[in-house]
Amino acid sequence: MTDDNFYITTPIYYPSGSPHIGHAYSSIFADVFARFKRNDKKNVFFITGTDEHGLKIQKSAEKNNLNPKEYCDKISKVFFNLNKKLSLSNDDFIRTTETRHHLAVTELWNRLLKSGDIYLSKYKGWYSVSDEAFYQSDEIINKNGKNYSKFSGSLVEWVEEESFFFKLSAWQNKLLDFYNKQPEFILPYSRRNEVVSFVKGGLKDLSISRTSFSWGIKVPDNDNHVIYVWLDALTNYLSALNYPDQNNQLFKKFWPASLHVIGKDILRFHAVYWPAFLLAAHIKPPERIFSHGWILSDDKKMSKSQGNILDPIKIIKKYGVDQIRYYLMKEVSHGSDASISLNSLETCINSDLANNFGNLCQRVFSFVKNNCNNEVSKNNNISTNDKKLLDETIILTKNLRNEMDKQNLNNYIKSVVKISFLTNKYINDEEPWKLKITNIEKMNNILHISLNQIGKIAILLNPIIPLATNRVFKALNLKQDDINLSFLDNKILLDDKVKINNLDILFKKID
Ligand code: MSP
Repeated sequence: MTDDNFYITTPIYYPSGSPHIGHAYSSIFADVFARFKRNDKKNVFFITGTDEHGLKIQKSAEKNNLNPKEYCDKISKVFFNLNKKLSLSNDDFIRTTETRHHLAVTELWNRLLKSGDIYLSKYKGWYSVSDEAFYQSDEIINKNGKNYSKFSGSLVEWVEEESFFFKLSAWQNKLLDFYNKQPEFILPYSRRNEVVSFVKGGLKDLSISRTSFSWGIKVPDNDNHVIYVWLDALTNYLSALNYPDQNNQLFKKFWPASLHVIGKDILRFHAVYWPAFLLAAHIKPPERIFSHGWILSDDKKMSKSQGNILDPIKIIKKYGVDQIRYYLMKEVSHGSDASISLNSLETCINSDLANNFGNLCQRVFSFVKNNCNNEVSKNNNISTNDKKLLDETIILTKNLRNEMDKQNLNNYIKSVVKISFLTNKYINDEEPWKLKITNIEKMNNILHISLNQIGKIAILLNPIIPLATNRVFKALNLKQDDINLSFLDNKILLDDKVKINNLDILFKKID
């Protein structure tokens, strides 16, 4: 992540049921990063989409008495609309049933064939339809006569069929070498360590085609086989850049991907199989895989099969989209699993959004409206307390780009919230309302500094709470061009004379 072009992806959703908060979490996380980079004036290409092939989707379609394509058209729309409701700023939405994707997958297959990494044999082993994953016998547990993956808890079935294989075993040392050369390829480090020890433990060749069902992309020149859905799905990251045309602007500018945000359940596919496929096909692997933990409900992974789903649409309707975005990014520790609840969501909305940042905006904007006719000017008489606040803000913002570059969103938000807290405290200590008659110049200065702080905080929080902060920008008369992070490099944000507009309550307190 060193240049000015950032290609950021979310995992493409399985359109096999209703979206839940776990899906929303991966997407919001990636969106925050994309928005931050855009605000930092980088070129960003951010994609999401739907993963529509494979047995899981074929079975869901059958259950719904639809053919798979009709079924995917219907459910893909649900996820497309979810993205809008979550205020995702994606530049494209890719569906794996599109022709452009088909072309990319076929090309990748042909390259792997040409490099000698594919051979035909027979697969005998366990398969989980729900995970679309093959498992070794030592990864299976038997409970009451049924077999499950130890890792995900999903039901597995025994499969014996002709299959093409990818020579993954030959890539063990090259992968270990790659992880060494690119030490931050997988973050957080705990996940990196998991992957490295998995690969050190030895890799088996990977089955990459199926013959017992037909819903997928056909293996070139062999209609009996469909390409394994993960080889198909991962390639979406290339097809969105118009691969195989490697000379087109999009591909040239944005490959290799800067960041794939994923949940820990799909780490092996992204951190082991994906770089191996790419290295074998002589395509540069991505720069970073960030793997977050699971959102738990009643201490279990939230999922359809567990029946413990929180519906993001209902939550957005009741509390608002900024509220849920903020809560998930601030309260859920990104490396580990976390339980969420409506109670803690409400506490978070009240303490951080309503009482802290919301209150700061409200008190300053209404004071300026009621006492200064919506206009304040600064002078150069900086007091010790003014300087203290400004210095503390510089210290708190110093590391923010770096926190974002490492996807340390929790730390990032904590620092920004602290700035808001300190600004509220500054106003309490300075009591500008007492200066209305005695020292109007000083009062103006305090208000100017406060508005400036609000502007900075709003820009820093914009990737997380875009709707509310856009209202603050309007109230501060900040134009699109002004929304950037140059104040982190000591550039001036607000003019010496600031004219503001009224600002209604940003966040309602929840009783
Ligand atoms: N289709 C695959 C991804 C293919 S990417 C080439 C897939 N889809 S999914 O719909 O099942 O999941 C989408 C994202 O949501 C994944 O990052 C997954 O980890 C995340 N989550 C699904 N349930 C989750 C939780 N309960 N908690 C947090 N995220 C989890 O996987």
